[in-house]
Amino acid sequence: MTEPIAYINGKRHVLPPGRADQTLLYYLREVGFTGAKLGCGEGGCGACTVLVSSFEGGHLHHRSVNACLCPLYAIEGMHVVTVEGIGNTRDGMHPVQERLATAHGSQCGFCTPGFVMSMVALLRAKAPEAPTEEEIEENLAGNLCRCTGYRPILDAFKAFAKVEPAAYTEAAIAASKAANGHHGSNGANGGTNGGTNGRTNGSNGKANGKAGKNGNGKVCPSTGRPCDCGDVDMEGTITSSSKHKEASCGPLTHSRPAVEPIFPAELRKRVPLELELPGAASAWYRPLSLQRLLELKKQHPAAKLVVGNTEVGIEMKFKSLKYPVLIGATHIPELNAFEVDDGGVHIGASVTLTTIMESFKQLISTQPAYKTSTLRAVAEQLRWFAGPPIRNASGIGGNICTASPISDLNPIWMACGATFTLAGAGTGERSVPAKDFFLGYRKVDMQPHEILLKLYVPFNTRQEYVKEFKQAHRRDDDIAIVNAGMRFTMEQQGGVWVVAEAAIAYGGVAPLTILAPKTMAALAGKPIDGATLEAGLKAVQEDVRMDPNAPGGMVEFRRSLAASFLFKGLLYVAQQLEADVPAYSSPFPESYRSAVKPYEREPSHGLQYYSAVPGEDVVGQPYRHQAADEQVCGTAQYVDDIQLPRGALHASLVMSSKPHAKILKLDTAAASAMPGVVGIFSAKDVPGGNDIGPVIKDEELFATDKVVVVGQPIAIVAAETETQAREAAKAVVVEYEDLKPVMDIDDAIKAESFLLPFSHSLNCGDVDSFFASAADDADVLVLEGEARMGGQEHFYLEPNACVVIPAENDEFLSYSSTQCPDAHQKYLSHVLGIPMHKLVVRTKRLGGGFGGKESRSAMINAAAAIPAYHLRKPVRLVLDRDEDMQITGTRHPFMGRYKVGFSPEGKLLACDMKLYCNAGYSMDISHGVLDRALMHADNVYMVPQMRAQGYLCITNIASNTAFRGYGGPQGMVVMENLIEQVACAVGRPVEEVKKLNMYKEGEVTYFGQKLVGSQAERCFQDVWDSSDYTARRTSAAAFNEANRFRKRGLAITPTKFGISFTTKFLNQAGALVHIYTDGTVLVTHGGVEMGQGLHTKVAQVVAHDLKITMAQVYIAETATDKVPNASPTAASASSDMYGAAAADACRQLNERLAPYYEKMPGKTFKEVVMAAYLDRTDLCAHGFYSTPDVSGFGGDMPFNYFCYGAAVAEVELDTLTGDWQILRSDVVMDVGKSLNPSIDIGQVEGAFVQGMGWSCIEELVWGDKQHTWVRPGQLFTRGPGTYKIPTANDIPIDFRVTLLRNSPCERTPMVHSSKAVGEPPFFLGTSVFYALKDACYAARKDAGLEGWFRLDLPATPERLRMACVDDITKAYAPDDLVCKLSC
Ligand SMILES: Cc1cc2nc3c(=O)[nH]c(=O)nc-3n(C[C@H](O)[C@H](O)[C@H](O)COP(=O)(O)OP(=O)(O)OC[C@H]3O[C@@H](n4cnc5c(N)ncnc54)[C@H](O)[C@@H]3O)c2cc1C
Ligand code: FES
Ligand code: FES
Repeated sequence: MTEPIAYINGKRHVLPPGRADQTLLYYLREVGFTGAKLGCGEGGCGACTVLVSSFEGGHLHHRSVNACLCPLYAIEGMHVVTVEGIGNTRDGMHPVQERLATAHGSQCGFCTPGFVMSMVALLRAKAPEAPTEEEIEENLAGNLCRCTGYRPILDAFKAFAKVEPAAYTEAAIAASKAANGHHGSNGANGGTNGGTNGRTNGSNGKANGKAGKNGNGKVCPSTGRPCDCGDVDMEGTITSSSKHKEASCGPLTHSRPAVEPIFPAELRKRVPLELELPGAASAWYRPLSLQRLLELKKQHPAAKLVVGNTEVGIEMKFKSLKYPVLIGATHIPELNAFEVDDGGVHIGASVTLTTIMESFKQLISTQPAYKTSTLRAVAEQLRWFAGPPIRNASGIGGNICTASPISDLNPIWMACGATFTLAGAGTGERSVPAKDFFLGYRKVDMQPHEILLKLYVPFNTRQEYVKEFKQAHRRDDDIAIVNAGMRFTMEQQGGVWVVAEAAIAYGGVAPLTILAPKTMAALAGKPIDGATLEAGLKAVQEDVRMDPNAPGGMVEFRRSLAASFLFKGLLYVAQQLEADVPAYSSPFPESYRSAVKPYEREPSHGLQYYSAVPGEDVVGQPYRHQAADEQVCGTAQYVDDIQLPRGALHASLVMSSKPHAKILKLDTAAASAMPGVVGIFSAKDVPGGNDIGPVIKDEELFATDKVVVVGQPIAIVAAETETQAREAAKAVVVEYEDLKPVMDIDDAIKAESFLLPFSHSLNCGDVDSFFASAADDADVLVLEGEARMGGQEHFYLEPNACVVIPAENDEFLSYSSTQCPDAHQKYLSHVLGIPMHKLVVRTKRLGGGFGGKESRSAMINAAAAIPAYHLRKPVRLVLDRDEDMQITGTRHPFMGRYKVGFSPEGKLLACDMKLYCNAGYSMDISHGVLDRALMHADNVYMVPQMRAQGYLCITNIASNTAFRGYGGPQGMVVMENLIEQVACAVGRPVEEVKKLNMYKEGEVTYFGQKLVGSQAERCFQDVWDSSDYTARRTSAAAFNEANRFRKRGLAITPTKFGISFTTKFLNQAGALVHIYTDGTVLVTHGGVEMGQGLHTKVAQVVAHDLKITMAQVYIAETATDKVPNASPTAASASSDMYGAAAADACRQLNERLAPYYEKMPGKTFKEVVMAAYLDRTDLCAHGFYSTPDVSGFGGDMPFNYFCYGAAVAEVELDTLTGDWQILRSDVVMDVGKSLNPSIDIGQVEGAFVQGMGWSCIEELVWGDKQHTWVRPGQLFTRGPGTYKIPTANDIPIDFRVTLLRNSPCERTPMVHSSKAVGEPPFFLGTSVFYALKDACYAARKDAGLEGWFRLDLPATPERLRMACVDDITKAYAPDDLVCKLSC
């Protein structure tokens, strides 16, 4: 047999033997292509995306693929292109890379190679055509970014969109110029600082070309083409949508042949090989004929057929299933056939979902419309089926044969009358109607020796209508909660149009896809009218029955969704019939029409406003992220990209499977004997202290007698390979005796499981006396309320990772993905019993942190140090995504209870609040989180008398930890809830009550800090005006009046966020600045770069202070041997602190250089430095900064200053399903005098989207009393498949961000009057939550429900739909249903 080969980035690779169970990603990283990242291993994040090209049927095919699921042998005979293959910083970047870096589309960079390759694959696949903007957005459905908020990525890629040729005619360009007066100045350089109320409105924020077409856009000064790349107004405010001129608008080509590898000639000529590759774990066969495939299947009935591996791969990795025989079914002509005849379409079982989608679209455009109703339903459903890389790889047969109860397509196949053809050696072919194929949970009518050969999809007849439905947590790339396929055949009987036949199938409501026979019968022969609808809704209640504890939960929601879909289905048919039959008119009111409005989303666009600064000053300029170029090229190194030293071992943790239990036995004997295992270590092997914790030592590194959480480390295995380590860890036997767990805040209150010494409270005035006398005061109203919110997974794209390397004399070097190398150094010192001066921790960059790598990462590093210590070998420990999510903690879930006294106008008089915070099994840094929640529980409102008491609840879930906002958002949510309830009580619009109570300059907060330079009112008014709030409220009301089941909601949400660590001693920072004799400068400081642009900002400060260029300054990494005792990079204060520390070092250096400058007028920095050096001057300085005046928690100045902001969000909600989108968001954020507006805008957008995710999309589900279908204490949502963070499709369609003008901060002179930005905008994302709640109020009003109602965060489709009470929900749940929340 010829050897199996593949090409990678133009180079030939002979594929190694015995790797049938390995993925392409594993191999790529093994051979050094570390650009493709392992973010999740389950096809859900896109970080591993690569381009795969193949030559089939005389044509080249290009597609993006998730390398983490693609089996290595599946690419045999193909060409794989990774991010390294298309360009680099030395030889030239690919235009996609260049454009993404320039447009600020890369922050931490971990997702970046995946985005680049998705875009490159799209361009390749579409060439020579260019994709449309819509296609570009849709193409990113499989790529997650946790940092940017997507807007800059979309902006970057839209430069490659198909432009409207009409926009480039001479006449159009002339018209565009005339319309604008030809703004030719360079926006980045031309403005003056400090515009007062400047704002331009010429750009509509849409991509190049459209503006010109509209005649109201601008002409780019660098290309002469219509564009909207930026403009500066008379007062120095830059309006930017794609930003920064030449680079962004320079002519971009779709490929650069000199860099992008061409398809290898050898592969063009090659005849496909039949493969038979044995292996210890699995053997891989790739037959080339149907006959051979059937023989193999007969020979190995248990064999798995593999096409996309998107099911098989998941089963092998996450369910630990072993498949000794895998059969690649991608090269069988019959299975790849797509044939059309008069009656319908025959589709081979291996045809990919992408091919089906494209072929159906083609047929839809060529066949008579009535014939393609099914095809349209399938194409629409496929649009929301996974992301493109999954659709590109997976075959239709895999979806059918897996028989998942939530398969998106099986309900349509059942409803439309499709048939499946099966084939088996010796038994021939047989056909089974789709409706009879599914027998039980993942059980189908197929014998072990059989395969699915093809499916047949009939065309439709006239007046036969097929409709698909799907509701998921998130629209893009998410599995369904409930889906449906419906077919209605209409005919005229006695002059009346009736349903001749109805076929209705549901997924997600039973262990298999089901038909709804009673409903089908109830509709048959009936006209579509109110009575039929009522009968149908009653029948669907009978057909869709669910146990209250059914797996997946949300039973009331799922049942009512099935009914909503039926309602929509009938509305749809009536509207279709109306369009087809002129005499027919829909019996439903006009206001119902939009209930079946097709989903539409125009490409997202945005505007960014900031103040220009003079061009010569590096401070205030929108420099790109210092490492952006390396990140887009995939050469930026993260911990797991480091080449391991010789003899390195791989580690895996043995973790508890119980939330609370005694350990009766720990047996490592069998595991120790497994191949490759070098050692297994537990508590008894810890040479130093086994007790750990960042503040108090209330945790164990390895559990001894008792476990207190699922996932708690009990031991660690070191082995030669990662697979061996993981297998052995699973083989360690632990016996337990169960103890009663405390799972949530309610349990903790009942058991009084509080950490009282750290549960602080704050008080102002005499709240008890106020409420005692309030009952007798007619001018005082009192109400009580409660607000609950779930946690939030950080979902940094890079999981926790470390490599610990021992050296002589008990020295250790650790490469760690952490926001606090100092904490790691301390942990290592403690557990190893080795002084800190022998331990060095290095962190180059993080693939995101958001607080999640501040303290929890240290235990992982400490665990890895134990085998490194004993075995004296380097040890690598990288958590899998599911492990990371299970054990490293989340944002704290909170419950707030309050009693508030207020005037009849809504003026707050007094408040008594209790905040309960679910800390998890240990304290970690939860006390600080609770303190900050207490100090933000006033948000921007003056409460003359207020008491807030905090309770740290200790429970048996993962120890919760820092997360952007650090408790502040939770405190503010409680106050916003309170304000809304007060507004409802006094019958005033909530906006008015907000204004009425807003802090005035100079007022003192209830925790004693005077507000100096408050921008709260200004931000609120600015965003009110710029968003045109008043007018949009009126038009939303008009829209709601006209639409019964679609509602628009608006909200304006303010924020105030305190900057400083509230633990006083942490407010200190060090920096080291070296000047070298070539005039370059190396800066090292204690802060960690995790995407937030810290290094870029510090470099700007240094370049400014030393009066050199940015190119002369470099920041390589953070290391404990360069800057000792550094505080965590957290609390948003790092730019302030490390910028100031670096400035202090520069001050010293400038003092030393001053005599030489004086002696050498007109000489360059380099010349001056050389003279100083020759004169024996110290060119290294250590700078230090400690934030002045701050008091820490409990004093009258816990914060150095406050940041302010306000946001307006407008949403549209489908009240029948809970589906929604953000029509527009406007943000005004106070960042002082911005050090770098692009970085600041990136932080604002990223934080907003993350805050929106927390409050509206992301839900953690724990095995608790609310979710009994999950194993106790287990986190169900342990990966992107179950835990949904926002995608590009979820961001506001129109996203406008303004950096508040003319707002310098007096407290930060060393960083040029700038303010912090990382955390403060996070809370503004909740404006979307309040807008959604506003839409619910409108829906409830139609149902006759008035007044305040409870809505917990996150506002998932379930909560929203059940809040929009109507006749459908009433059949399944009480009006005040509280949907279950793990809290
Ligand atoms: C990130 C992600 C997102 C997803 N999103 C969705 C979604 O939105 N909606 C949805 O419905 N599904 C979704 N899925 C599930 C999955 O992608 C689909 O079921 C897919 O179509 C499976 O195809 P495959 O080729 O990858 O299957 P494979 O994993 O290759 O095979 C799956 C199973 O089918 C069997 N099989 C395959 N072909 C045949 C055949 N011809 N005859 C007999 N048996 C056969 C195999 O033996 C195997 O048991 C998602 C999966 C992932 C990983
Ligand atoms: S690592 Fe492959 S999709 Fe996440
Ligand atoms: S830049 Fe996208 S995840 Fe960090």
